[in-house]
Amino acid sequence: MSSLSVSAKDTTGLAVRVEDLSITYRTTFERRPTLKQALVRLGRGQRAVREVEALKNVTFEVKTGTAMGIIGSNGAGKSTLMRAMAGILPPSNGSVEVWGKASTLLALGVGFNKDLSGRENIILGGLASGLSRREVEERADEVADWTEIGEFIDMPMKTYSSGMQARVGFSVAVHMKPDILMIDEALSTGDAHFREKANAKMGELRESARAMFLVSHGLGSIKEMCNEAIWLDHGTLMMRGEPDEVVDAYMKFVKVKKSATTTEDI
Ligand SMILES: Nc1ncnc2c1ncn2[C@@H]1O[C@H](COP(=O)(O)OP(=O)(O)O)[C@@H](O)[C@H]1O
Ligand SMILES: [Mg+2]
Repeated sequence: MSSLSVSAKDTTGLAVRVEDLSITYRTTFERRPTLKQALVRLGRGQRAVREVEALKNVTFEVKTGTAMGIIGSNGAGKSTLMRAMAGILPPSNGSVEVWGKASTLLALGVGFNKDLSGRENIILGGLASGLSRREVEERADEVADWTEIGEFIDMPMKTYSSGMQARVGFSVAVHMKPDILMIDEALSTGDAHFREKANAKMGELRESARAMFLVSHGLGSIKEMCNEAIWLDHGTLMMRGEPDEVVDAYMKFVKVKKSATTTEDI
């Protein structure tokens, strides 16, 4: 049994409830034979299935007003959890409940049509996030200006650097009045000026949004921006608590020295 439900009205004081959530990816692929095997089989393809349990029985609740940091090594399941909460990925088992409209800024550039300009993608992004044509038109210029990418905003996005794409994506996500804001690694690109501006914007949203989720390798930002944190490892929820505690436990776990330079780089 699996389910995802999105309720408009918050009757519980909760923003998100994840219960016994498991997600398994199944990828079928053509086993690449050695030359000798290929000759023996004469081209008969052999299909293999690779299963990855990206999340295993994850349970947690998030109250309204929470800014939740999600940490863990590469492949821990952080992006999978975000996609599940955004309703993009159905649970293999368990359930995800979200109270409100989720605005997601997932992996860089996903959801953009690269042949269209930044401005056109802003309009599409707004419509996709459920705003009316009029609401989108009212906001589009502000969203475009906020990116500070100058005349590039009217050029096809395939001409953008990854930093410019990140700016457009971030700007769309934060300007669409999200109830629940999810940001996955989006701040790792971009210069100090933009990062600071983005942090300020997130601080503002933390006040107005129902909840915020931040996946980041910048453990310093997690401590700074969030009032709670969870740590995932190989799909398992290892710990939940105060950002300081969780970050410290994680750093101890990965045996990384707590120097100022490494804090921003795990
Ligand atoms: N679309 C996919 N198909 C198959 N396996 C995937 C897919 N996306 C992620 N995975 C696998 O699921 C696990 C968790 O990935 P992910 O959620 O992206 O981790 P993280 O964001 O913490 O780095 C990894 O082992 C990854 O290889
Ligand atoms: Mg990820």
